[in-house]
Amino acid sequence: MMLRKVTKVIEPEATSDGAGVKLKRSIATQTLDYLDPFLLFDHFGSENPDDYIAGFPFHPHRGIETVTYMLAGAVKHRDSSGNSGIIKAGDVQWMTAGGGIMHEEMPELEGGRLDGFQLWVNLPAHLKMSKPRYQEINAENIPAIEKDDGVRIRVIAGTVDEVQGSVTGIAAAPTYLDVFVPATTSFNHPIPAGHTAFAYAYASAGTFVVISDNEGNWIAAPHLVVFGDGDAVQITTSADDLRFLLVSGQPLNEPVARYGPFVMNTEAEIEQALLDLRRGTFVR
Ligand code: FE2
Repeated sequence: MMLRKVTKVIEPEATSDGAGVKLKRSIATQTLDYLDPFLLFDHFGSENPDDYIAGFPFHPHRGIETVTYMLAGAVKHRDSSGNSGIIKAGDVQWMTAGGGIMHEEMPELEGGRLDGFQLWVNLPAHLKMSKPRYQEINAENIPAIEKDDGVRIRVIAGTVDEVQGSVTGIAAAPTYLDVFVPATTSFNHPIPAGHTAFAYAYASAGTFVVISDNEGNWIAAPHLVVFGDGDAVQITTSADDLRFLLVSGQPLNEPVARYGPFVMNTEAEIEQALLDLRRGTFVR
């Protein structure tokens, strides 16, 4: 088994999006524009409602999937297909926008803290104009595994010890795990060779080291760590507990034409999306 080495350590960039939601962005920045098939990775987390309450009013998506995973607080959503609901702590919403969806994502004022992540996953050319699809999984329906060494894993997508994650039938064959590793413990997880993989360390009083780095560099949260190719990743904690997301997926290796919430293969397809939006024919 070949352990994957760390190829990049990304410092999240403070930015804002939507109607002024403050967030930390690690993919879709000058440093890391695209990590095929992942187009964007945001961490929104604040105790202060002014940082998030304006939310993400109605906006379109085409050609991608958006994945929202909540740690705290709640986000109310509704869309052009007639879906609506509230995503709460521990819930995940995996939305395949396909050919087009209009939706809004508005944080609720609930106890002050809002914390969570949004990941954008690119769709292959043959699925870019597919029918929109939702997988919305409540916290209690996400398998949780506890190992003898105290490692705890919530399996959102992918497989751990033959336990299948909640989200299935996604083109990128993704892994999406929320992992807790106690102090001075190693976590090892196989990821198919050729797939893109990253970890996002989001909470730790201390630091963690990725042993597969072979250089013993200690990395503090919050940071996004990109792994090179291999069969497995290994992450070892220092004197503190760590929580991180482990995400992987099959790269598309296709041309990318990108304009805000539209991600297609050609500029002509982007023009078409804008034209459809102007003509009111965006949602098919
Ligand atoms: Fe959105």
